[in-house]
Amino acid sequence: MPADAGMAADLIRSRAAARPPRVAIVLGSGLGPVADAVEAPTVIPYADLPGFPAPGVDGHRGRLLLGRLGGASVAVMQGRAHYYESGRADGMAAAMRTLAEVGCRILLLTNAAGSLRPEMPAGSLMLISDHINFSGRNPLIGCDEDDRFVDLVDAYDPALREIMLAAASGLNLPLREGVYAWFSGPSFETPAEVRAAGILGADAVGMSTVPEAILARQRRLRVVALSTIVNLAAGLAPAPLSHRQTIDVAGAAADNVRRLLIAFLERLDHDG
Ligand code: HPA
Repeated sequence: MPADAGMAADLIRSRAAARPPRVAIVLGSGLGPVADAVEAPTVIPYADLPGFPAPGVDGHRGRLLLGRLGGASVAVMQGRAHYYESGRADGMAAAMRTLAEVGCRILLLTNAAGSLRPEMPAGSLMLISDHINFSGRNPLIGCDEDDRFVDLVDAYDPALREIMLAAASGLNLPLREGVYAWFSGPSFETPAEVRAAGILGADAVGMSTVPEAILARQRRLRVVALSTIVNLAAGLAPAPLSHRQTIDVAGAAADNVRRLLIAFLERLDHDG
């Protein structure tokens, strides 16, 4: 293990000695307020965690919160690395390794995404059932560990998806499953790219999540991922796309995301 991951893990262990985190959560653009719901948080800036990403994008804070949410012991990443910030797809590798190392068993990813389905407009939530990697990149390129040949069948854990769907239904919150297509960004897609993605089976497009899901599966974390739809994708949207809109619409939906995450966590078995 690189020294980095070991040092970050030691720091997290020392701060969360009484209750090691079991569920890691990555908060996407505009979802910072979900972090406010974490009870008795211990806050660690990424700057203190070797290998964790430097915060870069508006709407992303760079800090890790350790605490409780929905009865679960959680480690919440407020901010993530995006491929488009650095040209490196493995910007979340150390974080995923560290969170697995300190005892997380589940990774709950959130993001903001553009919808290909007019019946799933801005403000909707989508549970990711599978992904398509349109970036041509993979976070495990260059990794020389034996476990780099990661199986991605059921990468988005079927049992956890059932729990998420049940939690949404319990809240009367519409939640449909769909396929997320990863584009590198930071420009938005062209209408032709969006049409192509739709023909190939995508329901939503976005610029994150897939690298973390791949890295997490390498570490045997069970993954569940939720998209907040913040716009109809290029060519379907009535107005030009912008990052401002992503932050505003995701912020407006943050309360629904918070309620759903808590209901999901409450339904997990908290033993161990
Ligand atoms: N495309 C890619 N990423 C996004 C979008 C989009 O339309 N909306 C929010 N993130």
